[in-house]
Amino acid sequence: MKVQIDPDRCQGHGRCYDLAPGLFGDDEEGYGTVLGDGTVTPDQEPDARRAVANCPERAIYILEEK
Ligand code: F3S
Repeated sequence: MKVQIDPDRCQGHGRCYDLAPGLFGDDEEGYGTVLGDGTVTPDQEPDARRAVANCPERAIYILEEK
């Protein structure tokens, strides 16, 4: 699976990169970014789902296709 951030929805709350720093980073203005191509390893899946659940803007999406 992969994660994506919708830049139109992200308001820079920063929960994603606080909760899952292995998957998300922040740009120079504090908006969330996906690291690399967003691929989530099996052991990162709980972090990915926690980030999705905690983004107040619902800006994070999980793509389930491999
Ligand atoms: Fe943006 Fe949500 Fe992260 S608003 S910075 S994607 S917690």
